[in-house]
Amino acid sequence: MKLEKPQNTTEQDETTRQDSSPNEPETPSVAPEVSNESPDEVSEDIMALEISEGREEKFDTRGRKKYRTQKPKKEKRYWEVVTPGLGDFEKRIGKILDLGSRKGQVQEIFSAKKFKGLRVNPLLVQSAEGVKEIRDELVDHGIDVIHLAWYPDGFVVPVEHIEAVMELPMYKEGLVFIQNPSSFLPILALDPQPGEKYLDVCSAPGGKAALYAGLSQGKSELHLVDDNPFRVNKKMREVLKSQKVVPSEIIISDARHLITQGKITPESFDKVLVDVDCSSEGKINFESKDPLEQWKFKSADQFSHLQLKILLTGYEALKPGGVLVYSTCTLSPEENEGVISRFLERTPSAIVQKLLFKGQSVYDAITNWPGQDIVSEVTKTLRVDPRDPYMEGFYVCRIIKPFPEDETPEGQKNKQRNIDLANETVDLDQLGQKHSRLKKDEEQQ
Ligand SMILES: C[S@@+](CC[C@H](N)C(=O)[O-])C[C@H]1O[C@@H](n2cnc3c(N)ncnc32)[C@H](O)[C@@H]1O
Repeated sequence: MKLEKPQNTTEQDETTRQDSSPNEPETPSVAPEVSNESPDEVSEDIMALEISEGREEKFDTRGRKKYRTQKPKKEKRYWEVVTPGLGDFEKRIGKILDLGSRKGQVQEIFSAKKFKGLRVNPLLVQSAEGVKEIRDELVDHGIDVIHLAWYPDGFVVPVEHIEAVMELPMYKEGLVFIQNPSSFLPILALDPQPGEKYLDVCSAPGGKAALYAGLSQGKSELHLVDDNPFRVNKKMREVLKSQKVVPSEIIISDARHLITQGKITPESFDKVLVDVDCSSEGKINFESKDPLEQWKFKSADQFSHLQLKILLTGYEALKPGGVLVYSTCTLSPEENEGVISRFLERTPSAIVQKLLFKGQSVYDAITNWPGQDIVSEVTKTLRVDPRDPYMEGFYVCRIIKPFPEDETPEGQKNKQRNIDLANETVDLDQLGQKHSRLKKDEEQQ
């Protein structure tokens, strides 16, 4: 219901508008009117909030003004604009990607990708021969296949060929899976191994969890969490079934409360993926009907609060020496470097490891952004460039929980282990080769 401002307050409003100074502090500039009601009743009674010219005015049910706040005038940040539009998006992306002033660049960058990613299912295709057979069959059906040098079990194909792929038995039988190659990176960064306990706190629709299962040869324990029953029951279960992945458990729950509600045990997982919900700036497609529809819906700032809480829970679930990967498909510094900075303020002992990736285009982490205190550790994290023809814009950060340090010989040994871990560089191209069936067998020949 839209609440109208009561008419009998207009005169009073005008007076205050003239008297107010733009530099007044955020505390109420006018004391609340004297009321016979108790403070609780006053706050419950408030029924209208109007924001005009940076001023907030509240009225009780009888139309009396309760508080008046004059905020200092400041430049609006993009998330404060009620409905951000194309201009806001262009300005913001221009700054993130350090674009010049040429018009239309943002629309060009965010036009539909000309390639789709495809990868074999490592659970069903276990040899180089198998990968080659898949590739040859695609080529025989007139599909142009480009191997990804950094992960040769993954390909890209022209977007107009993807329907033909979906008609093939290899697709229907789950031997290949359509997935943007940016999504391979968080899983390669986790370096999946058989026998591990894996927690995926935002798991639906399950593409990354399925790759984790494949690269750990189906011998890991998968604990998959998501709070959206539709995405879990209608999408993820289908993906897992088609990819022949059998998880240990699926938990439909808000990841923020997994530990407080006793749904998982702290410090019990070897690997944790925190592939959070985000503003998805890396996936925006200006050729779609309303490209900014989702982006306008929720601000980067709102997302970042949720992301930090989920990240903190994921970290709590991690064993000492375990690996956590935080990833998003957004360009937003608030949701990427900003969240990692807030996380490191809360858990200063966490170790961020330097990620290297030469396979596709990347660009530097953002260390300077309005409204954000960003720590220098973020320079170890990875930004995948949305201008790359094969890749969606993506962000990946690899975090290790340190081993406990104390005065015992073991604790002292751990101190050195932690120092070594902090100095370690993780090369995603090397991990891509290591986990590729094609590459492994070629090397053995
Ligand atoms: C980027 S998607 C995850 C994609 C998934 N990792 C994959 O590779 O298929 C983010 C997911 O987070 C879920 N989500 C959002 N808020 C959540 C919360 N508080 N707890 C758990 N899951 C949440 C959404 O339902 C969505 O499925």
